[in-house]
Amino acid sequence: FEKLNKSYEKTSNPISNAVVLGNGVMGKGIIYLFSKYLKDVRIKLRDLTQAHEILKDVAKIYDHSIKSRSMSKNQVDFKLNKISYTDKFLGFKNFDFVIEAIIEDEKVKKETYKELENVIGENTIIATNTSSISIEKLGSEIKNKENFLGVHFFNPVNLMPLVEIIPTEQTSKESINKVCEMLISSGKTPIVVKDCAGFIVNRILLPYLNEAAFILEEGSRIERIDSIIKDFGMPMGPFTLADTVGIDIGYKVASILNESYGSRMPIASLIEKMYNAKLLGAKTKAGFYEYAGRDKYPNS
Ligand code: NAI
Repeated sequence: FEKLNKSYEKTSNPISNAVVLGNGVMGKGIIYLFSKYLKDVRIKLRDLTQAHEILKDVAKIYDHSIKSRSMSKNQVDFKLNKISYTDKFLGFKNFDFVIEAIIEDEKVKKETYKELENVIGENTIIATNTSSISIEKLGSEIKNKENFLGVHFFNPVNLMPLVEIIPTEQTSKESINKVCEMLISSGKTPIVVKDCAGFIVNRILLPYLNEAAFILEEGSRIERIDSIIKDFGMPMGPFTLADTVGIDIGYKVASILNESYGSRMPIASLIEKMYNAKLLGAKTKAGFYEYAGRDKYPNS
């Protein structure tokens, strides 16, 4: 993998357009990125009535560029106008790249790939933004395995440069090259990593978040732990991060890692309680912190 990281080459037919499935926290960030750097973006909605709200949230990510005068309102409108949407698996044939950022559920993701494979071109690359499920497992029923890989963005997509690229044994070198090339030209830092549950970052991040919850349960305060960790040099504390990521995502990732690594990756009972109580963080306006009346994206 070290070799792969250093050896991707420029391809003759680079990725110029993309379809994004899933329009939650990550989907919106990815739609923003592709509208900024690619020629064309198509998004698949579960329900057409969501369109206005989703496009508004994507536009909001551009606010910073307008405020800092790195982009004009007209330039942002031009980028946003590249986005088309549908609630069906329709109009994907001429797209080079499809990324799925839907719910972290193996069965739902696999069903989605089945539908996708009927409507995409022969050379279209399918990527999953899963944060924890093994790519080999997710792609086990995919027909064209050469074109399937994990492309794991981090939250918030507009601010985080790292993207984990997770090929399987069957993923072609060309697919890896194309994806890395597209990400580099979109200002990201793709790193090719080995396929396993949680890849690299989340195998390190989850125990850290869990431990913060254990310390809290032992009698500390949320703000105090967050503030200490910020003083340690992290850009935000563990509870702000957990609220930003989403407690549901954190819980699902923790469950998958617990299944794969056993007692090395316990699930903090506090996270489980919050998940069951639907205190999911910024997305529900309540998690470790309250977000009523606040911007939905505290760190954008
Ligand atoms: P989210 O909960 O914000 O959005 C989930 C999306 O999936 C929504 O658009 C929802 O409509 C859709 N969805 C829900 N049920 C569905 C179904 N049955 N069929 C089709 N679509 C369905 O989740 P988020 O955080 O955007 O996560 C999406 C993916 O990205 C997950 O695989 C997650 O593990 C991964 N991820 C999440 C990160 C985070 O910090 N939240 C970071 C990196 C990856």
